[in-house]
Amino acid sequence: MQTTDYMNILILGSGGREHTFAWKIAQSPLCDSLYVAPGNSGTTEIAQNIDIKVTDFEAIKTVVLANKINMVVVGPEDPLVEGIHDFFLNDTLLKHVSVIGPQKAAAELEGSKEFAKEFLYRHNIPTAAYQSFNASNVEEGYTFLETLKPPYVLKADGLAAGKGVLILNDLNEAKAELKSMLVDAKFGMASAKVVIEEFLDGIELSCFVLTDGKHYKILPTAKDYKRIGEGDTGLNTGGMGAVSPVPFATESFLDKIEERVVKPTIEGLQKDNLPYKGFVFIGLIKVGDDPKVIEYNVRMGDPETEVVLPRLKTDLVEIFKAISEERLDEINLELDERAATTVMLVSGGYPEAYEKGKEISGLENISDSLVFHAGATIKNEKVVTSGGRVMAITSFGNTYEEAIKKSYQNINKLHFDKMYYRQDIGFDL
Ligand code: AMP
Ligand code: GLY
Repeated sequence: MQTTDYMNILILGSGGREHTFAWKIAQSPLCDSLYVAPGNSGTTEIAQNIDIKVTDFEAIKTVVLANKINMVVVGPEDPLVEGIHDFFLNDTLLKHVSVIGPQKAAAELEGSKEFAKEFLYRHNIPTAAYQSFNASNVEEGYTFLETLKPPYVLKADGLAAGKGVLILNDLNEAKAELKSMLVDAKFGMASAKVVIEEFLDGIELSCFVLTDGKHYKILPTAKDYKRIGEGDTGLNTGGMGAVSPVPFATESFLDKIEERVVKPTIEGLQKDNLPYKGFVFIGLIKVGDDPKVIEYNVRMGDPETEVVLPRLKTDLVEIFKAISEERLDEINLELDERAATTVMLVSGGYPEAYEKGKEISGLENISDSLVFHAGATIKNEKVVTSGGRVMAITSFGNTYEEAIKKSYQNINKLHFDKMYYRQDIGFDL
């Protein structure tokens, strides 16, 4: 446990989420030196980037020891599912370092859809009915599909970079896809097991919870826009924009989420001995007036972080310290009551093939919005694109409409070759 007040902090990841973490942590008087691995063009302005992979635990160890890091904040799921927190706890030189993110056993909530469904059922948390199948019982999978009404929801059990969920209208197509996942390894080992789920009809939102394993605090809700095309059409992406708070999440609906979902989730972690110090991202769907859980993620969302953290007034490092010392109950979360929205600028062609290395111009003209870099890097002293999702433009407003207008006004000042963004973020609210 940390006794010093000032901390050297390492953030793992390279997206808009991690730039937002860096932006927030850099404001803390408790933060001494800040590092991001591998980081991007945004984080390099406020922290020191270190070019190592988030799953290279030995390289991370070297960096932590060389820079006297006291706290590691894990952005993406892969290192968590691969057990980075356990790696630190099991190493005598690292075990004093606080890691924000659950241990491997708990990270299975995101690492395995079947594990998550069993957890939800065991703790009576509302979710879609399901059964899971593997290559040895494909035929039973077909029979189960025949008992369901379309659309059919098929989920690869393991991590599949956000692509492992298929929603199909036709029974024969669903059977063919089930076979392709189980027998032909459509998603590699990730689809060695498949969860088939009842389709839930409703509007989605996400709830973010901080926990030290014993206590919890609920962060603002957010809604993201996953499809590439306007009107929620076309291919799934990592997320094209987000809004917080979610206007349809009324106080009584939020109470239901807390009572029926958040409390039994945190109690379930304790009952099942799943060690958890970090963010729980609960994907929900509002069916009628009731929340049902679609998925757990064991990290923050991206681009949800870009609207949730800017609304948090409390010092994030103070919160993280309280989490690692299991005294989260002592923290009082202070929130900005205004709405925040973000719009993601992406490379033309994304989420399929796209070009990189395009110079981004106009950044100096942005006023009254926050710019969080994602797939962007510095080359010859210029900011250029290096990924599909390039940057997120976040704004505040008294209403989400006012906030979104500001984001779009600022986006008009930005340019890169084949820049694309959705012009309808918030259209369904
Ligand atoms: P997941 O990776 O589990 O979040 O699923 C990806 C997306 O598929 C979700 O964001 C939902 O839009 C959709 N989805 C997943 N499960 C269901 C379900 N049971 N009913 C309806 N839509 C679903
Ligand atoms: N925006 C969805 C996610 O981070 O999983």
